[in-house]
Parts: sequence; C-alpha cells; structure tokens
Amino acid sequence: MTESQDKKVVILGIETSCDETSAAVLVDGTDLRSHIISSQIATHQKYGGVVPEIASREHSLHIQPVVQQALSEAKVGFDDLSAIAVTYGPGLVGSLLVGVSGAKAMAYAAGIPLIGINHLEGHIYANFLEHQDLEFPLLALLVSGGHTHLILFTAHGKYQVLGYTRDDAAGEALDKVARALGLGYPGGPQIQKASQSGNKEAFKFPRAMLEPGSLDFSFSGMKSAVLNTLNSARMRGETLNVPDLAASFQQAVVDVLVHKALMAIERTKVRTLLLAGGVAANQLLRATLANELTQRGVRLIYPQSILCTDNGAMIAAAGYYHYRAGNFAPWTLNAVPGLNLKSI
Ligand code: KG4
Ligand code: ZN
Repeated sequence: MTESQDKKVVILGIETSCDETSAAVLVDGTDLRSHIISSQIATHQKYGGVVPEIASREHSLHIQPVVQQALSEAKVGFDDLSAIAVTYGPGLVGSLLVGVSGAKAMAYAAGIPLIGINHLEGHIYANFLEHQDLEFPLLALLVSGGHTHLILFTAHGKYQVLGYTRDDAAGEALDKVARALGLGYPGGPQIQKASQSGNKEAFKFPRAMLEPGSLDFSFSGMKSAVLNTLNSARMRGETLNVPDLAASFQQAVVDVLVHKALMAIERTKVRTLLLAGGVAANQLLRATLANELTQRGVRLIYPQSILCTDNGAMIAAAGYYHYRAGNFAPWTLNAVPGLNLKSI
C-alpha cells in the first residue's frame, strides 16, 4: 500500500445553517471521534420560532468553543485534519455566514482544503455514518423544517429531485400547528408527545395528494384545516382536545409522506429508502414506513434521532465523499441561502 492509500481521512464537519452550532471529527467516513451540538432551542423558545438575528449572534459566540471541543474530544489538532467541510446553504444567511467564514479562516490557516456542503446532502449522508453497505440507486425521503423532498440518489453526489413541497415543509407545518395548539417549539417532537394520549381518528383532516401521479407535496392546506377547526371552536366558545388534534394531524402528515414514498418506490423500483431530516426522528413515520416497506421487501434506513436533526457529523460524512472525489471549494465560497440540491 502506498503512503497516500494508508493515510486516514480526517474531516472536521461544521454546521450552522439554522439554530444549532455543531462540529464533529470523522475518520474515514464512519469513525465518529467527536460530535458537539450547541442548541439554541432554549433561546428561541420564548419567541415560538427561530429569530434569525439572534441565531447568527449565538453562532458567532459558540463556533470557536464548539470546534475546539470537537478537536479536543477527538484528540486531534488542525495539523491532523485532511479537510474542513462546512454547510454553505440552504439556510439562514447570517447563520450560514458564521460557519462559512469560520471554516474558511481555519482551513486557510491550517493549509488544508475547504469543502462546501449542501445542507440537504448532509441530511442524506447522515445515513452513511452507520451504514457503509448502501448500494446505489437509493431513494431518499428528506423531511425537515425547511424541506420535503423525494430524491433519486444514483451515485455519490448524483441526485435527481422527483418531488418536493409546493408550500410548507412537513416540519414547518408541524411546528405551526404545534404553536397554534400551545405546544411550544420545536413543534414536531411536541406533536409526537401529545399524540401519545390522543385519538388519531378524532378529527378528519384532509390529505393533500395533488394531481394523480404527482410526487410533489403540499402541507399548507392541511395546516390551515387544523387552524380553521381551532378558530371555529373558539368562536363557538368550545375547547378542543389538544392530544386528539395533535394525533389526527400527525397521522394526516404521515399518511401523505408514506403514500408519496410508496409511489416513488413503485415508479423507480429502488429497493432501499433512506429517511433523512428532522422529521425522520418521528416514531409514527418510522414505524409506518417500516411496516409498509417490509411487506414490499424494501429496506428502510434512518439515522439515530440525534443525527436526524441538524448536526456536524452529517456534514463531515458528506465531506468525506467530496474529499475522496477531490471536490474542493474555492476560497471565495459564500453562503447561498436558497441553494438547491444539484449533482456534482
Ligand atoms: O433537519 P432539521 O433539524 O432542520 C431543518 O433543516 O429544517 O429539522 C427540524 C424539523 C422541525 O420542524 C422539527 O419540528 C422537526 O424537524 N422534528 C420532528 C421531530 N423531531 C424534529 N418532527 C416530528 N417528529 C419528531 N420527533
Ligand atoms: Zn436540517
């Protein structure tokens, strides 16, 4: 073996696109040596959602300590790193800029390559941290607070978006309904918790399937149906059962996600579905998909919950494959808040 084949690939992954400041050190794609997540949830909770200006200030305060802790827990210094991978979009521009400028400065000073990662790609690659045996083609259902995408993933870095949401993302709809129900932020986990004691048949909310054959999603009408139900009850002076509302809405969202995922499997004939993004932590979604896919002989893969929501490990995982492809970013890399998922 030559020296270069022998050398380990050590990637520092940095994520700051929304409200988590996170850094991780990953060796050879699967050996996660450290993973630090500094969450701003407590700061934003009192506003009922992420306040962009506060988020970027918090990232500025935390990026250095978070990176230092990730390096020290992994027992590595900048000299040991092969490259630094950082999220450059999509996300909040001020938040992204903190990560991008920090990563650029560190990579430049250390004399190592910089790798720009699409946040959506990062979510998908969280699945590779625990599963090295994944064989292409793969299908990904990416469900987060900002995105709901069905993606045909044919090789490392090669994506074809088959469908996406035309309005609200699934997580965004869950967050807005949770807020209206007085359940707090972030809404997805709160809806899941409240649903445990609720009756999913209590309210008949619509399932927006769009035109026949479409793999696109639409959650804003479903969200409005809950808000209208709540407002009508308030006007009549009635109080509705919150767990019943939560359980009925969670079921409606899961029904749509599962229906479209099954359609995509049917159409593409792909035999492995990757679940990704914050909503992939949802127990009902996981269990329903597991049940449906087992019946069809299709494999379901999802990351552990801490790797579903925003984190630096998934950015390092995607960075590892870019490193191997020699796909490095220029020093002019900038934050791109509306970045789409494109093949490299
Ligand atoms: O991927 P993520 O951390 O951030 C974005 O890229 O948007 O996803 C956050 C979203 C939020 O909408 C949150 O409510 C949702 O993921 N989420 C969940 C669960 N955990 C997080 N939704 C449903 N069930 C959960 N257990
Ligand atoms: Zn995310």
